[in-house]
Amino acid sequence: MTEPLKILFLAAEAAPLVKVGGLGDVAGALPAALQALPESPEIKVVIPLHGNINRTKLKLEPLTSFPIAHRDGAITAEVFTTLVSDMKYFLIAGDPFEAETPVYSPDTLLDGHKFTFFSLAALELTKQLNWQPDILHAQDWHTAPAVHALKTILQDDPFFDNTSTLLTVHNLPYLGDQAGPAMAAFGLPPAKSGSRLPKWARHMPLPLGLEAAGKINTVSPGYANEMLTKAYGVGLEKFLRSREADLLGILNGINLERWDPSGDPQLPFNYNQDTLQNREKNKIELLAELGLDPQPSLPLIAYIGRMAGQKGVDLAIQGLNKIKHLPWQAVFLGTGEEQIEAQALQLAENLPAKVKTIIRYDDQLARRIYAGADMILIPSRYEPCGLIQMIAMRYGCVPVATATGGLKDTITDAAHPDSTGYLFQRAAPAQLAKTLKRALNDFMHPDHWRGLQRRGMAQDFSWEGSARKYFQVYQSLLTD
Ligand code: GLC
Repeated sequence: MTEPLKILFLAAEAAPLVKVGGLGDVAGALPAALQALPESPEIKVVIPLHGNINRTKLKLEPLTSFPIAHRDGAITAEVFTTLVSDMKYFLIAGDPFEAETPVYSPDTLLDGHKFTFFSLAALELTKQLNWQPDILHAQDWHTAPAVHALKTILQDDPFFDNTSTLLTVHNLPYLGDQAGPAMAAFGLPPAKSGSRLPKWARHMPLPLGLEAAGKINTVSPGYANEMLTKAYGVGLEKFLRSREADLLGILNGINLERWDPSGDPQLPFNYNQDTLQNREKNKIELLAELGLDPQPSLPLIAYIGRMAGQKGVDLAIQGLNKIKHLPWQAVFLGTGEEQIEAQALQLAENLPAKVKTIIRYDDQLARRIYAGADMILIPSRYEPCGLIQMIAMRYGCVPVATATGGLKDTITDAAHPDSTGYLFQRAAPAQLAKTLKRALNDFMHPDHWRGLQRRGMAQDFSWEGSARKYFQVYQSLLTD
């Protein structure tokens, strides 16, 4: 029997231990899906023990500690393990993860210090355990220094002779742009003079990782293509085109057990494709909870998620303003940039009978919204994959979204007979308003609408297929 593949999986966050965004969902689900494959690879998931993680709740077992070299004196890494739903996690603590430090800070020099320390400590951990990884699978700029390290300071280390690397891009514009000095302080050099990277990118962790990685992937085929264009490539498009042969898109999945309207304990009424009348009851309860007019015949439009420029909340607000004379109600739920939060609050203030804005992160209310709202607005300016459109479809909440990246790959527009939602070509208020109007009209035809809902609910967005694709990439790296 051949030995199982050994995979070192690195991420800045992994749900349910620590979750800020979609990366946390992916790092919390993909390793388990990989482990469930018949080939049962051996995976070690390593994440930072961030300062704001509640340690008392976690049942942490101390494992080992060791120094990581730094220009100003070695920094001790302490490693703990914990078991969550049969998955063993390795958490790395140390001075860079001071108490109360958020997972991400706007200061990428500070984050550079944290995540370079983490990346190097994760590699050192495998040596301490004498566990030679076949694959290092890093996510985003935070763990890209580990990929870069294997091609530079650890290049001649026989321990990593057989370690190949995959770097997954969850969000290209986050390059770790200020992290260069932090990497240098840990002994990681910038790109060599023959580098194909543009000059400005040669000391940034994500570009360096992209250059060093054996293969690169992103989280949807659509975004993999977009990354090669000027509009989405953040200046790296030419470089990425030079790596096109090693670049692919693998769609994220969702955890079908965690997101299941027929068993979700947060819902007043559970339902499936055949019991959509229960969904209607959820809507009535939801409208009452939100303090909106409890008229189920009025379409309810939802926005759920981070209030960040990428997500186009401002476009949603402008678009809704354009059609404020039409009959609809809307709810906004999420947190993010102060200025965007303020715009969403202002909309509710201007249209108090129509709009409710709730500025908080609330997974439970989010579930009741997926199960009660009629449409979910996803006006992202770019979207590597996006998870909420998949969750919403599973709950029979019809997506109205920009035709970009993973949104385009997962939603079929109403112009097609097998439609599951609505797409607009450009993230702009007028296009959004026009498309919403289309959806509002269709909503008046209940049979048609139920068809849309049911087709969305029947989509298979499970992780299994994606895990298989990742496994194939790992295998292809071994034979390269
Ligand atoms: C990032 C992307 C999002 C993707 C997620 C997980 O948050 O913005 O599109 O779904 O990562 O890969």
